[in-house]
Amino acid sequence: MSLAGKVAIVTGSSMGIGEAIAKALLKDGAKVVLADIKEPTWQIPENAIHVKCDVSNSADVQAVIKKAIEKWRRLDIIVNNAGIYPFVPLENMTEAQWDKVMNVNAKSVSLLREQGCSIGIYKGCSLGTCTKGNYGQRNRTRRNSDSGRWSNFYRRTGNESISRNDTSG
Ligand SMILES: NC(=O)c1ccc[n+]([C@@H]2O[C@H](COP(=O)([O-])OP(=O)(O)OC[C@H]3O[C@@H](n4cnc5c(N)ncnc54)[C@H](O)[C@@H]3O)[C@@H](O)[C@H]2O)c1
Repeated sequence: MSLAGKVAIVTGSSMGIGEAIAKALLKDGAKVVLADIKEPTWQIPENAIHVKCDVSNSADVQAVIKKAIEKWRRLDIIVNNAGIYPFVPLENMTEAQWDKVMNVNAKSVSLLREQGCSIGIYKGCSLGTCTKGNYGQRNRTRRNSDSGRWSNFYRRTGNESISRNDTSG
């Protein structure tokens, strides 16, 4: 599939699955904004830029969208990949840990979508690397429930031409 001329934002792409997604999009011809709180751990080519961004912070998200538009004048794809999954059983989770997971994994998806759509160019191809949530994974309860929530969100908004893509189920 050719993505020549398309512009994508991939969150959490300084390493891991996000890095692999960004590389695949680049290989198919897209220009990619790497939105991550950390510097990329890989050598990024000239058709990619890194923008330091905490996806749970609306000002940071706004800045990433702005940067993509300033640089390449369009936005076609947002990959909501950034996520954290602390290995803490629910009963031991602090309020701060709960809020952090929800903000990074769940609130961010809404922020990216709202800010993306607010520019009027982006029509909403929004992908996520969430799972449906796994039963029995006691130490990742919070992460599994926010994943399930966003799986349902992607499914529900499918008729608004927002795609959903789970990396595992
Ligand atoms: N690894 C797995 O087995 C697996 C399975 C299913 C789903 N997932 C999901 O795929 C996604 C990526 O997983 P991974 O294993 O590659 O993770 P990872 O920890 O290797 O990489 C996550 C990246 O996200 C960035 N990040 C973290 N918090 C951020 C924030 N607030 N703002 C911006 N960037 C932030 C990190 O700096 C890092 O570059 C996650 O959402 C995870 O829940 C992972």
